[in-house]
Amino acid sequence: MTFNRENPYFASIKERYSLCGKDPQKDTIHLVLDLKDSGIKYIVGDSVAIIPANDPAVVQRTLDVMNATGEEIIQDKRSGTSWQLREYLTQKANIKDLSKKFLLELCARQTNSQKKDTLEPLLAEGAQDKLKEFQTKHEVWDALKGNPEAHLTPQEVCNLLMPMIPRFYSIASSMNAVGEEMHLTIAIQKWNSNGQQRLGVCTHYLCNLVPLNQADVPIYIQPHKGFTLPADPKAPIIMVGPGTGIAPFRAFMQERESLNCTGENWLFFGECHCDHHFFYEQYWKSLESKGKLRLDVAFSRDQERKIYVQHRMLENGKDLFQWIRDGAFLYVCGNACCMAKGVDAALHQIVQQYGNLTEEKTKEYVKQLRSDKRYIRDIY
Ligand SMILES: Cc1cc2nc3c(=O)[nH]c(=O)nc-3n(C[C@H](O)[C@H](O)[C@H](O)COP(=O)(O)OP(=O)(O)OC[C@H]3O[C@@H](n4cnc5c(N)ncnc54)[C@H](O)[C@@H]3O)c2cc1C
Ligand SMILES: NC(=O)c1ccc[n+]([C@@H]2O[C@H](COP(=O)([O-])OP(=O)(O)OC[C@H]3O[C@@H](n4cnc5c(N)ncnc54)[C@H](OP(=O)(O)O)[C@@H]3O)[C@@H](O)[C@H]2O)c1
Repeated sequence: MTFNRENPYFASIKERYSLCGKDPQKDTIHLVLDLKDSGIKYIVGDSVAIIPANDPAVVQRTLDVMNATGEEIIQDKRSGTSWQLREYLTQKANIKDLSKKFLLELCARQTNSQKKDTLEPLLAEGAQDKLKEFQTKHEVWDALKGNPEAHLTPQEVCNLLMPMIPRFYSIASSMNAVGEEMHLTIAIQKWNSNGQQRLGVCTHYLCNLVPLNQADVPIYIQPHKGFTLPADPKAPIIMVGPGTGIAPFRAFMQERESLNCTGENWLFFGECHCDHHFFYEQYWKSLESKGKLRLDVAFSRDQERKIYVQHRMLENGKDLFQWIRDGAFLYVCGNACCMAKGVDAALHQIVQQYGNLTEEKTKEYVKQLRSDKRYIRDIY
């Protein structure tokens, strides 16, 4: 059977443990989903889509500011189906992110002129930065709590909410190694805003809310778009995966080991502190000691100056360029906004220096690597 967003498979969480030491700043979790008898087949490089549910405490807070019990029946404007309000807010609605549409309606309905004067400038043309800042600091319940004069009914609130959307996670295992299981590496999202502790919807759901061994987690496979091992088992691979970006490379190495691939493997891993965040350290060290992996690590906060994966790439630039010349595939996974840009800049620098190329020719070289599908990224 094919599972998808409309017809997901309900997996249970078999195992869940922290990959971090005693670091209160950060928690990244190893999670094992049980796929027993589902018939699901994934391949390395695939991601899984997970459809989370909202935290009952946040749902209750939202109901309270709506002056609702949760028993009310509302209609989902997209499907036309009827729902009990509590269930709708738990399963179907995005009760975290405030849309501009939501704020426009709140402002239009606000009868208190002082509060209206606070909302209006956020919604003015060209005020995107102010609006974004407000949206980052407030959830739906905060905005409703601050504007009770708008008197939105539960149905009106539901009409203004965006839908709950699935979240994607890189699969951190190969079925050859783990059978009917799926392993994930999940960084819990936690931050403070507007005086409140906030938690990422899906990471909180997976890591704190769902009980173990209950077939509760709706999932389906999101196939990779070229981010997988090379067809040639002898091809060398270079993997750059700081933080949770490490996940698919655990799968790559499990697969390559299980198939006795002879291609060389080189991993660049980075995290904050070696003591707390060397995810899967034993596994990488055992591969290294068997001569199956070259390993370079960058622990950014273990010294005064930040050291990132791209610094390790630059330190090893000569070898790295030689690997690329020898046909290596370069994979990058993890944070899109900062890390991937830094890694891309380092790659350009290495190609220019060791390829002895002009800036123009360097760009062409890297572009060619991309079109040959030898420089492949899965970044988020
Ligand atoms: C292809 C792909 C693969 C991925 N693989 C992985 C993976 O292997 N492991 C993994 O952990 N994640 C992975 N992700 C990210 C994952 O899909 C989710 O985006 C992430 O877990 C957050 O989801 P959430 O529901 O917990 O957070 P949400 O509730 O969606 O909240 C995230 C939002 O909260 C806000 N926010 C977060 N932190 C702060 C802050 N400090 N200050 C202010 N606002 C903040 C931001 O608006 C942010 O967009 C992947 C994403 C993609 C697209
Ligand atoms: N919304 C946000 O503000 C925010 C911030 C970070 C991550 N995220 C998201 O949180 C999720 C999990 O993150 P994660 O736990 O995988 O790891 P991460 O937060 O990306 O951190 C992993 C490592 O990358 C380092 N790093 C930071 N900036 C870098 C750069 N420019 N170049 C190279 N390395 C850099 C970090 O160092 P330092 O932290 O010591 O600098 C850390 O050592 C991802 O979805 C990511 O996109 C969101």
